[in-house]
Amino acid sequence: MTSSSPETAREFRTVGVVGLGTMGAGIAEVFARNGLSVVGVEINEEALTRGRQHLEHSTARAVKRGKITEAEQADILGRITLTTEMKDLADADLVVEAVVESLEVKKGIFRELESVVSPTAILATNTSSLSVTEISTANAHPGRVVGVHFFNPAPVQNLVEIVRTVVTEPSVLDDVTGFVERLGKNPVVCGDKAGFIANTLLFGYLNHAVAMYEGSYASREDIDAAMRFGCGYPMGPLALLDLIGLDTAYEILDTMYKQGRDRLHAPAPLLKQYVTAGLLGRKSGRGFYTYE
Ligand code: CAA
Repeated sequence: MTSSSPETAREFRTVGVVGLGTMGAGIAEVFARNGLSVVGVEINEEALTRGRQHLEHSTARAVKRGKITEAEQADILGRITLTTEMKDLADADLVVEAVVESLEVKKGIFRELESVVSPTAILATNTSSLSVTEISTANAHPGRVVGVHFFNPAPVQNLVEIVRTVVTEPSVLDDVTGFVERLGKNPVVCGDKAGFIANTLLFGYLNHAVAMYEGSYASREDIDAAMRFGCGYPMGPLALLDLIGLDTAYEILDTMYKQGRDRLHAPAPLLKQYVTAGLLGRKSGRGFYTYE
């Protein structure tokens, strides 16, 4: 999908990211790498420190691989202002919310954002499976709310799903699509249905892999090897679930299932057990595999 020509494209100079977990920090990095001023907001100092560490670690990896110099890393990090104050988003042209998948938490943030940002700022959610329409009801002007769904790891994956609600203004859709293209990503546009395009197709497969492992049909290594070497996937399904985060994966599946999709999306019981036991994948050091 292509959007407005560069001459008519709306400019985005300062962008905000609310929530600096795996996705939020990755999104902030994408923006800063593209020369934008970024304001990253977290709920407290502890979460802010985790976000900062994520950004430093990810950009240090790029330095180590010779993709950027140390000076460029310093420039990228220097473009990101980290804060616990929502009011620091006052100058943002666009804010992307990337907090936990809780409708109430997200609506609270959107309500607060409205009182902080300019009337022309675009408000976006990176939700994976919640209703963008419901989130937008927290705003007096829901026409400027849109879904902007990045994939993990955000600096690497080139897809961004742009989710329109029935009231998203066409100009907002156009502006965001053009912006995503200028970030070097591939935008696709879809309606507001849990899972959007990619997760709807992906998560039935991932869930099936958990059920297969749970049933002792094959080892985790063999399930993953089958898809990597037989189908050319960059990682097997269980390793990918560890990357996504088992808690996040559970929430996505549960939401899709509750919205009346087929039983492919009924979360495998083992997934719930892992989450309850605190085995969340890479971010907790252990999921289907163990990490250093
Ligand atoms: N953060 C930033 N960069 C990362 C990264 C991370 N966590 N992991 C890897 N990279 C970068 C590396 O620096 C490297 O960059 P360069 O090519 O510029 O040097 C590149 O990715 C490749 O990394 P590696 O060589 O270390 O490893 P790899 O070739 O095995 O690739 C991978 C790793 C990119 C994760 C790849 O295995 C992959 O694409 N896996 C599938 C990921 C996927 O399906 N994501 C979608 C998940 S679903 C989702 O996100 C939706 C949702 O709502 C939850």
